[in-house]
Amino acid sequence: MPNIVIIGAQWGDEGKGKIVDLLSERFDIVARYQGGHNAGHTVIVNGHKHIFHLIPSGVIHPNIICVIGNGVVVDPFALVDEMRALEAIGIAVQGRLFISHRAHVIMPFHRTIEWVEEDARGDAKLGTTSRGIGPAYEDKAGRRGIRMGDLLDMDLLRAKIRESVQYKNNILCPAYGKPAIDAEEIFVSYAPVVEFLRDHVVDTAELIHEKLALGASILFEGAQGTMLDVDHGTYPYVTASNATAGGASIGTGVPPTSLDGVVGIVKAYTTRVGAGPFPTELLNPVGEGLRQRGDEFGASTGRPRRCGWFDGVVVRYARMINGIDAMAITKLDVLDTLPELNICVGYLYKGSPVKTLPVDAGAYANCQPIYKTLPGWVSRTTGLTEYRDLPEAAKNYLKFIADFVEAEISIVSTGPGRHETIFIQGSTLQELIA
Ligand code: GDP
Ligand code: IMO
Ligand code: MG
Repeated sequence: MPNIVIIGAQWGDEGKGKIVDLLSERFDIVARYQGGHNAGHTVIVNGHKHIFHLIPSGVIHPNIICVIGNGVVVDPFALVDEMRALEAIGIAVQGRLFISHRAHVIMPFHRTIEWVEEDARGDAKLGTTSRGIGPAYEDKAGRRGIRMGDLLDMDLLRAKIRESVQYKNNILCPAYGKPAIDAEEIFVSYAPVVEFLRDHVVDTAELIHEKLALGASILFEGAQGTMLDVDHGTYPYVTASNATAGGASIGTGVPPTSLDGVVGIVKAYTTRVGAGPFPTELLNPVGEGLRQRGDEFGASTGRPRRCGWFDGVVVRYARMINGIDAMAITKLDVLDTLPELNICVGYLYKGSPVKTLPVDAGAYANCQPIYKTLPGWVSRTTGLTEYRDLPEAAKNYLKFIADFVEAEISIVSTGPGRHETIFIQGSTLQELIA
C-alpha cells in the first residue's frame, strides 16, 4: 500500500482534518510530522465535532496507529488534555498513539518568550497562535532543546530543565526585563504528565520502519499550509516548521524514496489567520459573507479568519513546491450564493506583471491581483456526493482551477461532514490508494 502526504496548499485551515479522517481507513498509520498544537483540524462525525491539535485526525478510526513524529513540537500538557478528552468520549489511544522520543518539548517559558517578542514587534506582529511553537523550534535549532525522550529519565530531565532555564535567565530574562524563571517549579509541574505519557514515547522512526517492512501504509498529516512554511511561505509571516511535503520525510524519518504521492488540500477560496501579505483579501461585505457562510473562525484560537478570492498563483506555487499529484477542493458549498467569482491568475507589482512570488513580504503585500471572473452557480451544492449533480458553473469553476494549477481534482468537499464529499471516479487519488 502507498504512503501519501496530505498538505495544505494555502495558508492553513483548508480542511485537512476532514480529508485525513476520510482517507484514514485506507491506511495503517496516520502521522503528524511538523507543527504542534497551533494546528486545529476539525473532523465532524455523526454530528459530533472533534478538533485535533496534536493527535492525528485519523485517531477516530479504532484500528489506526497514530504517530506524532520527531518534527513535531509537543506541549505535554496540551497533549494530555487532548488524550483525556478523547478517552472521555470513548476513543482509546492506549497502545496506538506513539510520540517520537526525538520530538522537542514546548516549555512554559517558550510561551512567555513568544508573548514578549510579539509585543516587542509592535505593528509588525506576526499574529501567532501564542502556543510557544516558534521559540521551541528556535531552541531545537539552537541545540539546547529538551526532547520527549528526556522526559523519561527524571534526573536527566531535571538537569536539562536547569540548563535550559539557566540560559534563559542569563540571556533572555535580563534582555526582556522579566523575572528569573524557577527551574524546580517547572520540573515539579512536569512530573504527573510524564507518568501519563511514559508508555507512549518511543522511537517512532523504528516503529514506522518495522511496520513498513510488514507492508503497512502511512498517511502523513501536514499541519498549517504551504504559504506558512518557514522556507517556502510568506516569511517572516510564517510558522516555524516545514509544512510542505518535504517535511513529511524529515519529520518522521521515512525516506523521500518511500513517499508515493502528495494530496493538496485546497479551499475553494482563500483564508488566512494572523498577519502577513494576502493579495486577494476582501475587506468588504463579500469577504464578510465568506467568513459567515464558511464559519471562518480559527479552530485553535477562535480568531476571525481573513477571507478572499481563490488565488490560483498561490495554489500553482503549492503544486510546484509540494509536487501535488491530486487536489481535494473543499468548501465549494460556501460559494453557493455568489453570482460572480474571481480567481486570481497573476499579480501586478508597481504596474508590471510578476513572474514568480516576491520574496519580500512587503512587495508581496503590494501586489495587485489580476482576476479572471467566472459566473457563480447561485444554487445549493451543500451535501452533494456526485460530480454529475454539480451545476455547470461549479464544474467550470473547478475545471478552471485544475487547468490553471495544472493538477487534477480527485475530491470535492461540499460540507463539513464525512459524507458531504464527491470522489471523482477514476481520479489520480483513486489510483494512488487503489
Ligand atoms: P484544517 O486546519 O485544514 O484541518 O481545517 P480547519 O478544521 O481548521 O478548518 C476547516 C473548517 O471547514 C472546519 O470547520 C471544517 O469542519 C469545515 N469544512 C471542511 N470541509 C468543508 C466543506 O466542504 N464545506 C463546509 N461548509 N465546511 C467544511
Ligand atoms: P492548521 O493546521 C492557520 C498561523 C498563525 C500565524 C502564523 C505563525 O489548522 O491549518 P505560530 O503559532 O505557528 O508560530 O503562528 O501561522 N498558523 C495557522 N494558520 N492554520 C493553522 O494550522 C495555523 N498554525 C499557525 O495564525 O499567522
Ligand atoms: Mg485549522
